Amino acid sequence: MTIRTHNCGELNNNHIDKTVQLSGWVNSIRTHGQIIFIDIRDRFGKTQVILSSDELIEIGKTLSNEDVIHVSGKVSAREKDLINPDLSTGEIEVLVEKIDLLSTAEPMPLSIQDREASSEEHRLKYRYLELRNSSLQNNLIIRHKTAQVVRNFLSENNFLEIETPVLMKSTPEGARDYLVPSRVHNGQFYALPQSPQMYKQLFMISGLDRYFQIVKCFRDEDLRSDRQPEFTQIDLEMSFVDEDEVRNLVQNLIVKVFKDIINVDLNDFPVLTYKEAIEKYGTDKPDLRFEMLINDFKPFSDKSDFKAFSSCEAVRMIHIQEADKFSRKVIDEMDAYAQSIGAKGLAWYKVNNGDFEGGISKFFDSELRNEIISNFGIKDNSICFMIGDNLNDSLKILGKVRNRLGDILNLKDNSLFAPVWIVDFPLFDWNDETERFDSVNHPFTAPKDSDIENVLSNPGDIISKGYDIVINGFEVAGGSVRIHDHKLQKDIFKIMNLSDEEISEKFGFFIDALKYGTPPHGGIAFGLDRLVMLLAGVTNIRDVIAFPKTTSASALMEEAPNLVSEEQLNELGIKIVDDEKNV
Ligand code: AMO
Repeated sequence: MTIRTHNCGELNNNHIDKTVQLSGWVNSIRTHGQIIFIDIRDRFGKTQVILSSDELIEIGKTLSNEDVIHVSGKVSAREKDLINPDLSTGEIEVLVEKIDLLSTAEPMPLSIQDREASSEEHRLKYRYLELRNSSLQNNLIIRHKTAQVVRNFLSENNFLEIETPVLMKSTPEGARDYLVPSRVHNGQFYALPQSPQMYKQLFMISGLDRYFQIVKCFRDEDLRSDRQPEFTQIDLEMSFVDEDEVRNLVQNLIVKVFKDIINVDLNDFPVLTYKEAIEKYGTDKPDLRFEMLINDFKPFSDKSDFKAFSSCEAVRMIHIQEADKFSRKVIDEMDAYAQSIGAKGLAWYKVNNGDFEGGISKFFDSELRNEIISNFGIKDNSICFMIGDNLNDSLKILGKVRNRLGDILNLKDNSLFAPVWIVDFPLFDWNDETERFDSVNHPFTAPKDSDIENVLSNPGDIISKGYDIVINGFEVAGGSVRIHDHKLQKDIFKIMNLSDEEISEKFGFFIDALKYGTPPHGGIAFGLDRLVMLLAGVTNIRDVIAFPKTTSASALMEEAPNLVSEEQLNELGIKIVDDEKNV
């Protein structure tokens, strides 16, 4: 039997009077007197089919939503007023001559059409059913197309797609590793790649010149709405390039992806240094869809009678011309939010009729009020929020407040895309807990040429050749030009407080490799999931992954992770300390 001659999204006026066969799921059934209308659905769309003979109606009455059926019949034009312009097949219907039930469906545990009707946990348990939802299918289609565009673009630009091992030695990217015990080497472990960083650099040493891979990476870290324990990178590396060349190529790739996938022209890629980003937006992942810059308010608060700020190292302020949207309740909520992220309090005042109102206004005399209003160009109907703290925290907290205001005031338009390059990151970050320097990016990132001679003497002030591309507040890709000198690479590990033994045990093979003629090289990795999230206009990374994990890194459908048998553990030489968990 032919199962179908066309798919359910394909038929139109050109097929009128043709005899066709369709197969798919019963999307809906409606009975109108002596006629049954069924919408039959597959990945490609929906088609209305009509059962009108007694025999067919008898069968139709036994059908339920989500049964799988096969129909054959004749395509017929719909009457004018019954045309559905929202459906690709909306001009026609199929008059069924024969219907077969291919498979029955039990009552659905969730609504296919209305995802929000069930909790996310429930939906993840039945993910294979949730994936019947057309918006989720569309996200996966966007993901597929994005991967195709990327592959074609990079292939056309001389990149080779080369796979790297999944069972490997740990590469540091700042998260914990997922470890895989070895049966053959009892007591020893592979690590799953946090990224293929060292392998891709080794490809450059091998002379492969340009590498890319669409590759799974694994990181055991705290999850958020834009983070998964296993995620996919578009990973690439290039030989004989500087920062500008990598950034140019990446920019062209992004422009192509946005044009080809969602027909959006991206023209403007502003560049902010890390320092500028932190000073203006309080974060190195600024959302540039809205302005609301952070200002230095200290010179003004110092002239006021508001003493709570006088002992603070820094006082920063943002203002926005939407004061009427801030009732006392909303302001209190903002204050509670600021305190929940570490603020001692969120000071505020409104500006109306050229004067201050409410909050801490009474601590400012009228001359100072005028000076502030004119200095910052604050318009009527504005509200100003201030944080006093040490410099770092005042910026960081106000950055988050800014982001929250963007949500509350609906300033984050999902149809707008605001990319920005963040460059000139510090090479190291001092870690108070471990009392040593950590890499801001990863330890293979090169310092700026002008800083190389000070790397050992003044590590805290060194600027790196790293770059991130941020779109709408999401870090979509990050990379750098790499160290290609083995001595400098070793120095970097030393600054990170690794002993000679540790360096040689963890990275000996890599430092050796750098000694055999290493071309200058650099690269970047995109988070494919995050990129697709933006393209699909969604804000949850789980909506663009077929089988995602929950925020506690569980797979609810197949129930992973899970216990394993004593026998398997013995084979691996592993003993679980908490005996109750051992099967
Ligand atoms: P980085 O660690 O910045 O760089 O990762 C690159 C990009 O991967 C995405 N990403 C994630 N996406 C989802 N879930 C996660 N847990 C997650 N972690 C990272 C982000 C990020 O920008 N080897 C370097 C790249 C290089 O230097 O070439 C690296 O992995 O979008």
